[in-house]
Amino acid sequence: MKVQVDRRDGLAAASDVTACGLFERPEKDDTFPRTLQREDEATRGLLKAAWARKEVKGKRPSLKGEVTVFHRPDGKGRLVTVGLGHRSKFSPDIVRRAAAEVVRYCRGRGARTVGFCLGTFVADPVRVETAVAALVDGAVLGNYEFSKYHSTTEGRAEEATIYLGEEFGRDEAALKKVLANSATIADSVVWARDIANLPADTASPQRLAEEALALGKEFGLKVTVFDEKKLAEMGCGGILAVGGGSNGHPPRMVVIEYPGGARRGRTVAIVGKGITFDSGGISLKPAPSMADMKFDKSGAVAVLGILRAAATLKLPPRVIGVLCCAENVPSGTSYRPGDVVRSFNGKTIEVLNTDAEGRVVLSDGLGYVVQQYHPDEVIDLATLTGAQVIALGDDTAGLISNDDKLAQGLLAASALSGEPLWRMPLTDYHRELVKSEVADVRNSVEIPVAGMLTAAAFLESFVGGTPWAHLDIAGPAYTTPRTRKWQPSYQNEGATGFGVRVVTRYLEAAPPRG
Ligand code: BES
Ligand code: ZN
Ligand code: ZN
Repeated sequence: MKVQVDRRDGLAAASDVTACGLFERPEKDDTFPRTLQREDEATRGLLKAAWARKEVKGKRPSLKGEVTVFHRPDGKGRLVTVGLGHRSKFSPDIVRRAAAEVVRYCRGRGARTVGFCLGTFVADPVRVETAVAALVDGAVLGNYEFSKYHSTTEGRAEEATIYLGEEFGRDEAALKKVLANSATIADSVVWARDIANLPADTASPQRLAEEALALGKEFGLKVTVFDEKKLAEMGCGGILAVGGGSNGHPPRMVVIEYPGGARRGRTVAIVGKGITFDSGGISLKPAPSMADMKFDKSGAVAVLGILRAAATLKLPPRVIGVLCCAENVPSGTSYRPGDVVRSFNGKTIEVLNTDAEGRVVLSDGLGYVVQQYHPDEVIDLATLTGAQVIALGDDTAGLISNDDKLAQGLLAASALSGEPLWRMPLTDYHRELVKSEVADVRNSVEIPVAGMLTAAAFLESFVGGTPWAHLDIAGPAYTTPRTRKWQPSYQNEGATGFGVRVVTRYLEAAPPRG
């Protein structure tokens, strides 16, 4: 989707659909807001009439804004009002959602261009720059559809314009920059969604490696692909064990190096779980929990998206992306419960449950990147545990870290990007629970306690004291018909690309080294 700013007034310029935000009317106050006078003129009094009969209320029932459509009698397209809810609860995320609701309205309704009257989306505490960034996010992400396998598709909006009008015309240059920056990040999310949505027969570990190679070619990044032979030479026993059951789709580890734009830039390693299909392996999952497991590669795909955004924006830090890719399926060559495998850094892992495979593949990626690159910090992204979904739901990712500064930085980026994170504790209790009788660590615990945190304790033992943060994105990485209703309007059906926005924002703000 093309996005742009335009100095003109939205109602005069008239896109196919022109959108205005509308706050919920205060109780017992029926007077028509003076601020809507011009919108009312554009509809020749229809808006005021709808207001009077309480057809438009500006509400956000069930997390979604009320969308009302007025066909303008002057023939200049449609005016769409979108509910922003009560003023006291206004936030950037409401703008993001409202923009998505407007572009979603456009689907299959013959609207090629959509315009937003910026002034109607700016109010305390949402400043004008924040509103522009949120409108871009909402429009681009909300307009996304995974259409590769549809033989016919509904028409969608192709162009979104943010109209500055007289009020903000002076800020055009600055707002153009804000728009370009947000559009780059949103485009990278969309790009990542297209890969994450691919089914497991297509998106094999080798295919993820090829996506990385293509990205490297486009941006001049060094990409190294380790195949199963090389992985054996290197001693990556974790990835090899998990990927051992697959006959057609052998495992890969992929390393992408973005050199960074600043001389004193820090080195940030980003490691992603890339299980292209998680059947559970020998510890087979029940059928209903298996259906969505093509999304178990979402962490690795987010790493690709982050590198794409970092390279496009020429961000200051040096970024090393690592994708730990394998297909976890049962066969005669699968790893088994009871096996002991040796990870890259020499530590041994007792496998108690082959379905706890994410931490096993990540152990190699974390160990490798720490030894090879000595990064200033490591961030990993993984659809790691069902326990994350139980604890935090489908909208908020779990953040676990051994470093307060890194955690604070990520939480600040979370507030900015609108991707919610919640920090969870990591203590000796969790570390004790992952100790093994027969090896250094075990990959699962026999009692169902703090599953998200014991998984994190396992990962921590492979970063050797490097400042590290783990994002468990099992819930927010994708939506299903069952959960979508409660997830933000800008999340499409399927993969959400969660993690790209928050980590890119973090890299943008990362202070120089030392
Ligand atoms: N990929 C799953 C986690 C998951 C669950 C992701 C739901 C997305 C939605 C992971 O590999 C897994 O199966 N974890 C097990 C670990 C357990 C066996 C220790 C889990 O969470 O049940
Ligand atoms: Zn699993
Ligand atoms: Zn998994």
